[in-house]
Amino acid sequence: MRLRDCHNFQDFRRLAKRRLPAPIFHYIDGAADDELTYRRNTEAYGDCDLVPNVLAGVETVDMSVEVMGQTLAMPLYCAPTALQRLFHHEGERAVAKAATKFSTMFGVSSLATVTVEEIAEIAPGPKMFQFYFHKDRGLNDALLERARAANFNVMALTVDTITGGNRERDLRTGFTSPPRLTPASVLSFALHPMWAWNFYTKEKFDMPHLSGHVSEGTNLAVSVGNYFSTMLDQSMNWKDAEALCAKWNGQFALKGVMSVEDAKRAVDIGCTGIMVSNHGGRQLDGSRAPFDQLAEIVDAVGDKIDVICEGGIQRGTHVLKALSLGAKACSGGRLYLYALAAAGQAGVERALDHLRVEIERDMKLMGITRLDQLSRDSLRFRSRAA
Ligand code: GLV
Repeated sequence: MRLRDCHNFQDFRRLAKRRLPAPIFHYIDGAADDELTYRRNTEAYGDCDLVPNVLAGVETVDMSVEVMGQTLAMPLYCAPTALQRLFHHEGERAVAKAATKFSTMFGVSSLATVTVEEIAEIAPGPKMFQFYFHKDRGLNDALLERARAANFNVMALTVDTITGGNRERDLRTGFTSPPRLTPASVLSFALHPMWAWNFYTKEKFDMPHLSGHVSEGTNLAVSVGNYFSTMLDQSMNWKDAEALCAKWNGQFALKGVMSVEDAKRAVDIGCTGIMVSNHGGRQLDGSRAPFDQLAEIVDAVGDKIDVICEGGIQRGTHVLKALSLGAKACSGGRLYLYALAAAGQAGVERALDHLRVEIERDMKLMGITRLDQLSRDSLRFRSRAA
Protein backbone atom coordinates (compact mmCIF):
# COMPACT_ATOMS: atom_id res chain seq x y z
CA MET A 1 0.00 0.00 0.00
CA ARG A 2 1.34 3.43 -1.02
CA LEU A 3 0.17 7.02 -0.74
CA ARG A 4 -1.46 6.83 -4.16
CA ASP A 5 -3.60 3.95 -2.89
CA CYS A 6 -5.10 6.21 -0.21
CA HIS A 7 -8.53 7.45 -1.25
CA ASN A 8 -10.17 8.15 2.08
CA PHE A 9 -9.69 8.49 5.83
CA GLN A 10 -9.62 4.73 6.43
CA ASP A 11 -6.94 4.22 3.75
CA PHE A 12 -4.68 6.81 5.41
CA ARG A 13 -5.33 5.12 8.74
CA ARG A 14 -4.28 1.75 7.34
CA LEU A 15 -1.09 3.18 5.85
CA ALA A 16 -0.25 5.00 9.10
CA LYS A 17 -0.68 1.74 10.97
CA ARG A 18 1.92 0.13 8.73
CA ARG A 19 4.40 2.98 9.00
CA LEU A 20 4.30 3.61 12.76
CA PRO A 21 5.54 1.58 15.73
CA ALA A 22 2.45 0.33 17.58
CA PRO A 23 2.71 2.66 20.61
CA ILE A 24 2.77 5.73 18.36
CA PHE A 25 -0.05 4.52 16.13
CA HIS A 26 -2.25 3.68 19.10
CA TYR A 27 -1.54 7.05 20.71
CA ILE A 28 -3.14 8.70 17.65
CA ASP A 29 -5.79 6.06 17.07
CA GLY A 30 -6.83 5.43 20.66
CA ALA A 31 -9.28 7.18 22.92
CA ALA A 32 -10.59 6.95 26.49
CA ASP A 33 -12.09 3.97 28.35
CA ASP A 34 -14.27 1.91 25.97
CA GLU A 35 -13.89 4.46 23.15
CA LEU A 36 -17.68 4.86 22.90
CA THR A 37 -17.46 8.61 22.39
CA TYR A 38 -14.67 8.26 19.83
CA ARG A 39 -16.89 5.98 17.71
CA ARG A 40 -20.04 8.06 18.26
CA ASN A 41 -18.24 11.22 17.07
CA THR A 42 -18.33 9.82 13.53
CA GLU A 43 -21.47 7.67 13.80
CA ALA A 44 -23.51 10.74 14.77
CA TYR A 45 -23.24 11.99 11.19
CA GLY A 46 -25.00 8.84 10.01
CA ASP A 47 -28.19 9.60 11.94
CA CYS A 48 -29.32 12.28 9.51
CA ASP A 49 -29.55 12.59 5.75
CA LEU A 50 -28.94 15.44 3.37
CA VAL A 51 -31.86 16.62 1.22
CA PRO A 52 -30.45 17.83 -2.11
CA ASN A 53 -31.93 20.30 -4.55
CA VAL A 54 -31.31 19.99 -8.30
CA LEU A 55 -31.17 22.13 -11.46
CA ALA A 56 -29.38 24.87 -9.58
CA GLY A 57 -26.57 25.82 -12.02
CA VAL A 58 -23.59 24.76 -9.97
CA GLU A 59 -20.63 24.95 -12.34
CA THR A 60 -18.75 27.30 -9.97
CA VAL A 61 -18.84 26.81 -6.23
CA ASP A 62 -17.32 28.95 -3.49
CA MET A 63 -16.56 27.00 -0.33
CA SER A 64 -14.75 29.79 1.51
CA VAL A 65 -15.80 30.72 5.05
CA GLU A 66 -15.08 33.50 7.52
CA VAL A 67 -14.30 32.16 10.95
CA MET A 68 -12.83 33.93 13.94
CA GLY A 69 -11.81 36.82 11.72
CA GLN A 70 -9.96 34.59 9.24
CA THR A 71 -10.92 33.83 5.66
CA LEU A 72 -10.43 30.14 4.90
CA ALA A 73 -10.62 28.77 1.36
CA MET A 74 -12.37 25.67 2.70
CA PRO A 75 -14.67 25.14 5.69
CA LEU A 76 -12.35 22.64 7.38
CA TYR A 77 -9.02 23.19 9.12
CA CYS A 78 -6.36 21.18 10.91
CA ALA A 79 -7.03 21.17 14.65
CA PRO A 80 -4.00 21.60 16.89
CA THR A 81 -2.50 18.28 17.98
CA ALA A 82 0.50 17.44 20.12
CA LEU A 83 3.85 15.78 19.35
CA GLN A 84 3.75 15.77 15.55
CA ARG A 85 7.44 14.93 15.02
CA LEU A 86 6.71 11.57 16.63
CA PHE A 87 4.41 10.78 13.71
CA HIS A 88 6.66 12.05 10.92
CA HIS A 89 10.09 13.67 11.22
CA GLU A 90 8.83 16.88 9.55
CA GLY A 91 6.02 17.14 12.11
CA GLU A 92 4.30 20.52 12.42
CA ARG A 93 6.31 21.90 9.49
CA ALA A 94 4.60 19.45 7.13
CA VAL A 95 1.14 20.33 8.41
CA ALA A 96 1.83 24.08 8.33
CA LYS A 97 3.03 23.93 4.72
CA ALA A 98 0.16 21.73 3.57
CA ALA A 99 -2.53 23.86 5.27
CA THR A 100 -0.95 27.01 3.83
CA LYS A 101 -1.11 25.50 0.34
CA PHE A 102 -4.83 24.94 0.80
CA SER A 103 -5.33 28.40 2.31
CA THR A 104 -6.87 26.97 5.41
CA MET A 105 -6.03 27.36 9.09
CA PHE A 106 -4.04 24.96 11.24
CA GLY A 107 -3.35 24.82 14.94
CA VAL A 108 -0.05 24.54 16.77
CA SER A 109 -0.17 22.89 20.19
CA SER A 110 1.53 23.99 23.40
CA LEU A 111 2.97 20.47 23.15
CA ALA A 112 4.27 21.01 19.61
CA THR A 113 7.69 19.78 18.50
CA VAL A 114 8.55 22.76 16.25
CA THR A 115 8.64 26.38 17.47
CA VAL A 116 5.95 28.93 16.74
CA GLU A 117 8.68 31.21 15.37
CA GLU A 118 9.72 28.68 12.74
CA ILE A 119 6.10 27.92 11.87
CA ALA A 120 5.38 31.63 11.41
CA GLU A 121 8.23 31.87 8.91
CA ILE A 122 6.98 29.05 6.72
CA ALA A 123 3.24 29.65 7.05
CA PRO A 124 2.03 33.21 6.43
CA GLY A 125 -1.68 32.20 6.47
CA PRO A 126 -4.12 31.92 9.39
CA LYS A 127 -2.69 30.13 12.43
CA MET A 128 -4.11 29.12 15.78
CA PHE A 129 -2.13 28.55 18.95
CA GLN A 130 -3.54 25.98 21.36
CA PHE A 131 -2.97 26.85 24.98
CA TYR A 132 -2.69 24.49 27.94
CA PHE A 133 -3.11 26.27 31.27
CA HIS A 134 -0.16 25.06 33.35
CA LYS A 135 0.45 25.32 37.08
CA ASP A 136 3.69 27.10 36.10
CA ARG A 137 2.51 30.69 35.52
CA GLY A 138 5.85 31.69 34.00
CA LEU A 139 5.33 29.02 31.37
CA ASN A 140 1.79 30.26 30.71
CA ASP A 141 3.01 33.83 30.18
CA ALA A 142 5.82 32.63 27.90
CA LEU A 143 3.39 30.58 25.75
CA LEU A 144 1.07 33.53 25.25
CA GLU A 145 3.82 36.02 24.49
CA ARG A 146 5.63 33.71 22.06
CA ALA A 147 2.42 33.09 20.14
CA ARG A 148 1.68 36.81 20.07
CA ALA A 149 5.19 37.72 18.92
CA ALA A 150 4.95 35.08 16.16
CA ASN A 151 1.70 36.74 14.95
CA PHE A 152 -0.59 33.82 15.56
CA ASN A 153 -4.10 34.93 14.65
CA VAL A 154 -6.24 32.88 17.04
CA MET A 155 -5.69 31.71 20.62
CA ALA A 156 -7.58 28.56 21.70
CA LEU A 157 -7.65 27.62 25.36
CA THR A 158 -8.26 23.89 25.78
CA VAL A 159 -10.76 23.34 28.58
CA ASP A 160 -11.45 19.60 28.41
CA THR A 161 -8.12 18.28 29.75
CA ILE A 162 -8.40 19.31 33.38
CA THR A 163 -7.15 15.81 34.16
CA GLY A 164 -5.81 13.08 31.87
CA GLY A 165 -8.27 10.79 30.09
CA ASN A 166 -8.01 7.05 30.69
CA ARG A 167 -6.25 6.00 27.51
CA GLU A 168 -5.92 2.29 28.02
CA ARG A 169 -4.16 1.65 24.72
CA ASP A 170 -1.32 3.91 25.93
CA LEU A 171 -1.16 1.97 29.18
CA ARG A 172 -0.92 -1.33 27.29
CA THR A 173 1.71 -0.18 24.79
CA GLY A 174 3.67 1.87 27.35
CA PHE A 175 3.45 5.00 25.19
CA THR A 176 5.28 8.00 26.58
CA SER A 177 6.74 11.24 25.27
CA PRO A 178 9.56 10.98 24.44
CA PRO A 179 9.02 7.34 23.48
CA ARG A 180 10.68 4.74 25.66
CA LEU A 181 11.56 1.22 24.70
CA THR A 182 9.73 -1.20 26.95
CA PRO A 183 9.65 -5.01 26.79
CA ALA A 184 6.14 -4.70 25.31
CA SER A 185 7.13 -2.25 22.57
CA VAL A 186 10.72 -3.03 21.61
CA LEU A 187 9.75 -5.48 18.87
CA SER A 188 7.37 -2.98 17.29
CA PHE A 189 10.10 -0.30 17.18
CA ALA A 190 12.53 -2.85 15.68
CA LEU A 191 10.00 -3.72 12.99
CA HIS A 192 9.79 -0.07 11.89
CA PRO A 193 13.45 0.75 11.16
CA MET A 194 12.56 3.62 8.80
CA TRP A 195 10.59 5.40 11.52
CA ALA A 196 13.35 4.70 14.05
CA TRP A 197 16.06 5.97 11.64
CA ASN A 198 14.19 9.21 11.01
CA PHE A 199 13.31 9.72 14.65
CA TYR A 200 16.74 9.01 16.11
CA THR A 201 19.00 10.50 13.41
CA LYS A 202 17.21 13.59 12.02
CA GLU A 203 16.59 16.07 14.82
CA LYS A 204 16.60 15.66 18.58
CA PHE A 205 13.11 15.27 19.96
CA ASP A 206 11.99 18.37 21.81
CA MET A 207 8.89 20.25 22.86
CA PRO A 208 10.48 23.65 22.52
CA HIS A 209 7.68 25.69 24.09
CA LEU A 210 8.06 23.73 27.32
CA SER A 211 11.68 22.74 27.44
CA GLY A 212 13.05 25.92 29.03
CA HIS A 213 10.47 25.58 31.81
CA VAL A 214 9.79 21.92 32.64
CA SER A 215 11.55 18.65 31.86
CA GLU A 216 8.42 16.50 31.57
CA GLY A 217 7.73 15.47 28.00
CA THR A 218 11.18 16.35 26.66
CA ASN A 219 13.85 14.99 28.99
CA LEU A 220 11.55 13.07 31.29
CA ALA A 221 9.31 10.47 29.61
CA VAL A 222 5.65 10.81 30.59
CA SER A 223 2.33 9.69 29.14
CA VAL A 224 0.20 12.51 27.82
CA GLY A 225 -2.54 11.58 30.31
CA ASN A 226 -0.02 11.93 33.13
CA TYR A 227 1.21 15.23 31.76
CA PHE A 228 -2.32 16.65 31.86
CA SER A 229 -2.93 15.30 35.36
CA THR A 230 0.28 16.56 36.90
CA MET A 231 1.34 19.66 34.95
CA LEU A 232 -1.94 21.42 34.16
CA ASP A 233 -3.71 23.56 36.73
CA GLN A 234 -6.86 21.81 37.97
CA SER A 235 -8.01 24.98 39.69
CA MET A 236 -8.50 26.65 36.27
CA ASN A 237 -11.87 28.41 36.26
CA TRP A 238 -13.93 31.02 34.41
CA LYS A 239 -12.00 33.90 35.96
CA ASP A 240 -8.73 32.45 34.63
CA ALA A 241 -10.23 31.99 31.16
CA GLU A 242 -11.58 35.55 31.20
CA ALA A 243 -8.20 36.94 32.28
CA LEU A 244 -6.42 35.00 29.53
CA CYS A 245 -8.93 36.18 26.95
CA ALA A 246 -8.43 39.80 28.05
CA LYS A 247 -4.65 39.41 28.05
CA TRP A 248 -4.66 37.97 24.52
CA ASN A 249 -6.95 40.78 23.41
CA GLY A 250 -7.74 39.23 20.02
CA GLN A 251 -9.53 36.25 18.51
CA PHE A 252 -9.97 33.86 21.44
CA ALA A 253 -11.75 30.50 21.62
CA LEU A 254 -12.50 27.86 24.21
CA LYS A 255 -11.73 24.43 22.80
CA GLY A 256 -13.79 21.63 24.30
CA VAL A 257 -17.11 23.30 25.18
CA MET A 258 -20.03 20.85 25.18
CA SER A 259 -22.89 22.45 27.12
CA VAL A 260 -25.18 25.37 26.26
CA GLU A 261 -24.49 26.83 29.68
CA ASP A 262 -20.73 26.93 29.05
CA ALA A 263 -21.23 28.25 25.52
CA LYS A 264 -23.19 31.20 26.98
CA ARG A 265 -20.49 31.84 29.55
CA ALA A 266 -17.88 31.82 26.78
CA VAL A 267 -19.82 34.68 25.16
CA ASP A 268 -20.00 36.50 28.51
CA ILE A 269 -16.23 36.41 29.07
CA GLY A 270 -15.54 37.85 25.62
CA CYS A 271 -14.64 34.79 23.53
CA THR A 272 -15.07 35.12 19.78
CA GLY A 273 -15.36 31.37 19.14
CA ILE A 274 -15.86 27.94 20.67
CA MET A 275 -14.89 24.51 19.44
CA VAL A 276 -17.66 22.07 20.28
CA SER A 277 -15.38 19.13 20.94
CA ASN A 278 -14.71 16.22 23.28
CA HIS A 279 -11.01 16.05 22.41
CA GLY A 280 -11.54 13.28 19.86
CA GLY A 281 -13.10 11.01 22.51
CA ARG A 282 -9.77 10.99 24.36
CA GLN A 283 -10.97 12.52 27.62
CA LEU A 284 -14.49 11.81 28.99
CA ASP A 285 -15.77 8.60 27.44
CA GLY A 286 -19.57 8.55 27.32
CA SER A 287 -19.78 12.28 26.64
CA ARG A 288 -21.94 13.39 23.73
CA ALA A 289 -20.66 13.76 20.20
CA PRO A 290 -20.04 17.34 18.98
CA PHE A 291 -22.46 16.86 16.08
CA ASP A 292 -25.22 15.63 18.45
CA GLN A 293 -24.72 18.69 20.63
CA LEU A 294 -24.27 21.24 17.87
CA ALA A 295 -27.86 22.42 17.18
CA GLU A 296 -28.66 23.41 20.75
CA ILE A 297 -25.40 25.31 21.09
CA VAL A 298 -25.88 27.13 17.78
CA ASP A 299 -29.45 28.02 18.80
CA ALA A 300 -28.16 29.53 22.05
CA VAL A 301 -25.06 31.43 20.90
CA GLY A 302 -24.66 31.05 17.12
CA ASP A 303 -25.54 34.69 16.47
CA LYS A 304 -22.95 35.97 18.98
CA ILE A 305 -19.91 33.74 18.57
CA ASP A 306 -18.39 31.45 15.93
CA VAL A 307 -19.26 27.83 16.64
CA ILE A 308 -16.84 25.26 15.26
CA CYS A 309 -17.69 21.56 15.13
CA GLU A 310 -14.64 19.43 15.89
CA GLY A 311 -14.23 15.70 15.92
CA GLY A 312 -15.24 12.59 14.02
CA ILE A 313 -15.10 14.18 10.58
CA GLN A 314 -14.05 11.78 7.85
CA ARG A 315 -16.05 12.97 4.82
CA GLY A 316 -17.08 16.11 2.98
CA THR A 317 -20.71 15.27 3.74
CA HIS A 318 -19.93 15.40 7.47
CA VAL A 319 -18.76 18.99 7.02
CA LEU A 320 -21.91 19.90 5.05
CA LYS A 321 -24.10 18.37 7.76
CA ALA A 322 -22.37 20.34 10.52
CA LEU A 323 -22.64 23.57 8.50
CA SER A 324 -26.33 22.86 7.87
CA LEU A 325 -26.86 22.92 11.64
CA GLY A 326 -25.08 26.26 11.87
CA ALA A 327 -21.40 25.54 12.50
CA LYS A 328 -19.17 28.20 10.90
CA ALA A 329 -16.43 25.65 10.14
CA CYS A 330 -15.21 22.19 11.14
CA SER A 331 -11.88 20.92 12.35
CA GLY A 332 -10.24 17.60 13.02
CA GLY A 333 -7.03 15.94 14.12
CA ARG A 334 -6.93 12.34 12.94
CA LEU A 335 -8.17 13.40 9.50
CA TYR A 336 -4.68 14.77 8.78
CA LEU A 337 -2.57 12.93 11.37
CA TYR A 338 -2.82 9.52 9.75
CA ALA A 339 -1.86 11.16 6.47
CA LEU A 340 1.08 12.92 8.15
CA ALA A 341 2.29 9.60 9.52
CA ALA A 342 1.73 7.92 6.16
CA ALA A 343 3.68 10.39 4.01
CA GLY A 344 4.53 13.73 5.68
CA GLN A 345 3.57 16.92 3.84
CA ALA A 346 2.56 15.03 0.69
CA GLY A 347 0.22 12.90 2.79
CA VAL A 348 -1.43 15.88 4.50
CA GLU A 349 -1.83 17.59 1.13
CA ARG A 350 -3.48 14.51 -0.31
CA ALA A 351 -5.84 14.21 2.67
CA LEU A 352 -6.82 17.90 2.49
CA ASP A 353 -7.24 17.66 -1.27
CA HIS A 354 -9.58 14.68 -0.94
CA LEU A 355 -11.69 16.52 1.58
CA ARG A 356 -11.74 19.69 -0.54
CA VAL A 357 -12.76 17.72 -3.63
CA GLU A 358 -15.44 15.89 -1.66
CA ILE A 359 -16.86 19.13 -0.28
CA GLU A 360 -16.95 20.64 -3.77
CA ARG A 361 -18.60 17.57 -5.28
CA ASP A 362 -21.08 17.32 -2.40
CA MET A 363 -21.99 21.02 -2.71
CA LYS A 364 -22.76 20.50 -6.41
CA LEU A 365 -24.81 17.42 -5.66
CA MET A 366 -26.68 19.36 -2.97
CA GLY A 367 -27.50 22.06 -5.53
CA ILE A 368 -25.64 24.87 -3.77
CA THR A 369 -22.86 27.21 -4.86
CA ARG A 370 -22.19 28.85 -1.48
CA LEU A 371 -22.10 27.36 2.00
CA ASP A 372 -24.56 29.92 3.39
CA GLN A 373 -27.20 28.22 1.23
CA LEU A 374 -27.12 25.29 3.67
CA SER A 375 -29.69 25.40 6.47
CA ARG A 376 -31.61 23.11 8.77
CA ASP A 377 -33.86 22.40 5.74
CA SER A 378 -30.88 20.70 4.10
CA LEU A 379 -31.08 17.86 6.67
CA ARG A 380 -33.56 15.37 8.06
CA PHE A 381 -32.92 13.40 11.23
CA ARG A 382 -34.29 9.88 10.83
CA SER A 383 -35.72 9.58 14.31
CA ARG A 384 -37.58 12.87 13.87
CA ALA A 385 -38.55 12.36 10.23
CA ALA A 386 -41.69 10.22 10.50
C1 GLV B 1 -3.29 15.70 23.26
O1 GLV B 1 -3.92 16.71 23.17
C2 GLV B 1 -3.88 14.40 23.30
O2 GLV B 1 -5.11 14.29 23.25
O3 GLV B 1 -3.13 13.41 23.40
